[in-house]
Amino acid sequence: MKADDVKLFAVIGAGQMGHGIALVAAVSGLNVILNDIKMEFAERGLQNISQILSKNVDKGKMTKEEKDAALERIKLSANLRDLHDVDFVVEAATENQEIKFQIFRDLDEICPPHAILATNTSSIPIGRIAAQTKRPDKVIGMHFMNPVPVMKLVEVIRALTTSDETFQVTWDLSIKFGKTPAEASDYPGFIANRILMPMINEAIYCLYEGVGTRESIDTVMKLGMNHPMGPLALADLIGLDTCLAIMETLYEGFKDSKYRPCPLLRKYVEAGWLGRKTGKGFYEYK
Ligand code: CAA
Repeated sequence: MKADDVKLFAVIGAGQMGHGIALVAAVSGLNVILNDIKMEFAERGLQNISQILSKNVDKGKMTKEEKDAALERIKLSANLRDLHDVDFVVEAATENQEIKFQIFRDLDEICPPHAILATNTSSIPIGRIAAQTKRPDKVIGMHFMNPVPVMKLVEVIRALTTSDETFQVTWDLSIKFGKTPAEASDYPGFIANRILMPMINEAIYCLYEGVGTRESIDTVMKLGMNHPMGPLALADLIGLDTCLAIMETLYEGFKDSKYRPCPLLRKYVEAGWLGRKTGKGFYEYK
């Protein structure tokens, strides 16, 4: 199979990452199935896509006809069996190993034998997910960055079992989506989170130990290092539960104390302060 042979594309999970992936796929001309466990979640994902595309029309980045055509290419689904005809799936469900394992076992049964099953996981080993299926050569990591419509990177992660053909299709599809792929091996955190999360964790330690206020920590990194947003604001965007889960994965995976999650991060997560999505993290959101 080649990337141009991918005609029907599916996304599992219509949340923050999933709806963004569905958007870039539909805009690139693919027919897309956007699946979630409940129809209302899929509908909310489509509303978000529609809002983003409407803004692009207002800004003159696309025509109304292009927006309508992209929306028409997206079909909603609350049943995995709707994916019986797909060529390529990206799973972007909750970052929970058991949930992902079950999804991959189901996809392996439902999807046609040629279909590639990719995961957007930020921390679970791709090889472990591939081993849940009878097609480990067709399982790969396709890691988009948040916010998906804006961020240019796709980290493409090969498991030991991933075939060259699967890798090439995923690589070329990322380019078709207007992204720039980068290859990473299947080690905890891959490249992006191996480097990003310890920096965010260290910023939280600076807050925890009173080295600086949230404002001074973020100002130092924004104005001193030209980062588009400070690490604490970025943690709020990513979700503090996700940040904690990734630090746990690094700590478990390497058994190296340099990856220990900051106790303050754990405390925030336990309090339900998860960042933008709950209205409160290191900052408050309306
Ligand atoms: N969806 C779609 N478009 C969005 C968006 C969203 N959620 N958020 C912002 N944009 C668009 C805006 O509409 C705007 O578009 P135009 O240029 O066409 O006007 C553009 O992005 C810039 O937005 P703003 O002017 O509102 O704000 P900004 O210049 O501060 O940019 C940002 C916002 C793009 C989020 C920028 O702050 C940024 O790049 N932050 C860092 C993001 C980052 O590091 N992401 C990686 C997270 S790690 C990850 O995802 C991996 C993981 O596994 C945890």
